[in-house]
This record gives sequence, C-alpha cells and structure tokens, in this order.
Amino acid sequence: MTKLRTGLVGCGSMGGGVHAPGLASHPRIELSAIADVTPPNLERVGEEQGIPAERRFADAEELAALPDLDLVVVATPPWLRNAPVLAALGAGKHVLAEKPLASVPQDAWEMVRAAERADRVLAMMHNYLFFPEFEAAKAAIDAGTIGDVQTISANLLCVPDNPGAATFQPGWRRDLGRAGGGILMDMLHPLYVMSWLAGAPVSEVSAMIRRTGEGPLPVDDLAMCHLRLGDVYASLNLGWGLGPGGIGVGGSEGRLWLRYINNGTTPFDRFHSAFTSDGMTTRPLKVEGVIADPDSAHASEDERLAWAFDGYNMQNSYLELVSDIVEAVDSGRQPRSTGVDGARAVDTVLACYASAARRCPVALPLDRADPVYREGVTALAAEAEAD
Ligand SMILES: NC(=O)c1ccc[n+]([C@@H]2O[C@H](COP(=O)([O-])OP(=O)(O)OC[C@H]3O[C@@H](n4cnc5c(N)ncnc54)[C@H](O)[C@@H]3O)[C@@H](O)[C@H]2O)c1
Repeated sequence: MTKLRTGLVGCGSMGGGVHAPGLASHPRIELSAIADVTPPNLERVGEEQGIPAERRFADAEELAALPDLDLVVVATPPWLRNAPVLAALGAGKHVLAEKPLASVPQDAWEMVRAAERADRVLAMMHNYLFFPEFEAAKAAIDAGTIGDVQTISANLLCVPDNPGAATFQPGWRRDLGRAGGGILMDMLHPLYVMSWLAGAPVSEVSAMIRRTGEGPLPVDDLAMCHLRLGDVYASLNLGWGLGPGGIGVGGSEGRLWLRYINNGTTPFDRFHSAFTSDGMTTRPLKVEGVIADPDSAHASEDERLAWAFDGYNMQNSYLELVSDIVEAVDSGRQPRSTGVDGARAVDTVLACYASAARRCPVALPLDRADPVYREGVTALAAEAEAD
C-alpha cells in the first residue's frame, strides 16, 4: 500500500490542530514536510509530528519544490492561499486547499485553471460534506425519500467568533482587507452543503448583510441570504451570536430536518436528531456514527469551539475527506469537493456582498468585468465611499 507523501503549509489553529494530527494518523498519508512563516508554530507542529529540522520550511515554495512530495495541504488564511497553492500545482503536486479557496474570486479561478493545466487534483477542505448528518441527509434525498428538493432553509446563527493562532495575526477574521469578509466568508460551509443537497450550483442571490464593530471597515457579523440553485430556492441565515441553528429541506413528497442540542449550530453544538416526514408520518433519520446526546450541552463559547475542533465531526470527517482525496488521486476521479466548488462558493459569497451593498439580486457566475470579481469586497467598500 503506497502512501501519499504529504507536505503541510500553515501550522496555525487549523493546520496544527486538525490537518497535522489527521494527516499523521491516516494510513495512506506520510506527513513528511511542513512550512509556516511563524517560527513557534512551525516548531510546535514539527516537534509534535516528529518532522526533522531539514523538512521544516519558512517558505512554502521551498516545500513545494521538494521532489519527494505527492500532495500539499494549504491551511494558510485565505488571502495567503494563492501563492502556496500555485507553487504546489506548478511543481506537479496535488493540493488540498482550506476554505475559502480565496478571498477574491479571480484568485480562486486562477487556482482552478492552474490545476487544470497541471492535470493535478485540487481538492477543497469542504469538510462539512463529510459530517455524518449531511451524508445521511444526502443519501435520503438521493433515495427519493422526500421527492424532488424544492426548498432548503439553513440557520447557523450561533457561530462562535474564533480568533486565529495567537502567534500569527489573531484578528484577521475581523479585517475586511485581509479576510475578504466576515461571518459569510469565514463560514461559507452551508453554501457548498446546500449546493450538494440541491444537486446544483447557486445561480442567483439576494442578501441583506449587517456590519457592526470597530474600525472604518467592520466585517459582517450577520448575513441573511436568499439563493436560487437551479429549481431549488434556499435561505441561509448566518451569524456570530446566539441565534437558532438547524437545517430543513423541503421536497415534493416530504421534508427532512436536522437539529442540534440547544437548537444550536453544527459543528459547535452536538447533533440532536434528524427526521423525515411525508406530512402525516414522521420517521427518525438514522445518522450513522453520531451519538445523539440531547442531555449534554456546552456551557461556554470555549467549550463549543473545543467540541468543534476535537469532537467527532471535525476529526473523523477529516479522515474521510482525506480518504476521498487519496481515492481520487489513485483512480483519476474527482474528489467530492473540487477547486471549481471552492471557486463557486467564493463567487457566491461575493455575490451576496454585492447584492447587499447594491441592493439588488446578483446572478452567478459573477460577471468577469465586475470589480467584485477582480478585487473582492474592497471593490464594494470603494463604491460605498464614492457614493
Ligand atoms: N474547514 C474548517 O472547518 C475550518 C475551521 C477553521 C479554520 N478554517 C480555515 O483554515 C484557514 C486557516 O485558519 P486558522 O484559524 O488556522 O488561521 P491561523 O491564523 O490560526 O493560522 C494560520 C497559519 O498560517 C501561517 N501562515 C501565514 N502565511 C503563511 C505562508 N505564506 N506560508 C506558510 N504559513 C503561513 C501562519 O503563520 C499561521 O500559523 C482559514 O482559511 C480558515 O478559514 C477552516
């Protein structure tokens, strides 16, 4: 059984806390090189994973140039994704990129084209697709349990506000110029989940976005979005805060819903229950591998974050995601989530920001001539200033 020799770029919260231990424990992966611009993060992960000093790099390009790597995992923050991904693809490596693929659509599509040119796999860390409750929902939909999907409503209104690694730039999620957005950009997970459940990409959006906080360009902390995905109509409500969570899917012959303890939000709150109904009879939807635990609740935001990073969904689903990439590389098929899906998700986020700022619906794919496509959310800030 050959292993994919793998390098990791970015050893912060996600790189050091999820990717490194997950890669190191996967039977088909050999984690043999790491890169990070922040020396303590590089050293910590190097020591934890037993990476020799000569295989630890400050420069991601040096890691990409190693001739003995097959796969590079890029877990830098979004505005620092493009260069390491292009370097890895240019050196003939397969790539797993963290989400969001980029903070600017043009950068995201540039990576997609680079992967096509290099004929390498560009897979997305769209890890929620491997959460057991979404896999169960998708299987029930594909089995025709609720007929044709017509509507999806997703509430993720109690997302904790997660700073990055203290040793790097912990405030980056609240910096519009760097993060490229706030809650919607950072938590774009339900966009690709809805697209997967609907079986179609987003074709039009209309959104209202709230921005509060300090500074001249505060980021969004509340996003209420309406989306059209082919024939499916969806609503997505996302917020840093304490609002309700849960996801419902409406079909031509029934409905399906997923709930979390305290009416909370995955993956920060434990799975509670899932059901399908034909309107008359309600049946539990079996979700394999997840223990519904209605009596246990997390008391604090720190506990919720710890659960999200250490709990079942994040760790186990990560191993499944990596297995999917290994199989994609072995067989030549596409992974469950590709660079195209990553770029579409970034397009959708920017379309929502544009819709809210310009107070109009926005069609997708984004118009390549739109400044939002080339510059991301800073183009909207410039438009607002010019008004
Ligand atoms: N998929 C998920 O469930 C999930 C969860 C949390 C975060 N994320 C994503 O993971 C990414 C990283 O987030 P984080 O919270 O780990 O950030 P972080 O700030 O904790 O860590 C970022 C790390 O990248 C390093 N870095 C920056 N520029 C670099 C470069 N050019 N080369 C090498 N290393 C570099 C930093 O030194 C730091 O160690 C973000 O895109 C975030 O959205 C995904």
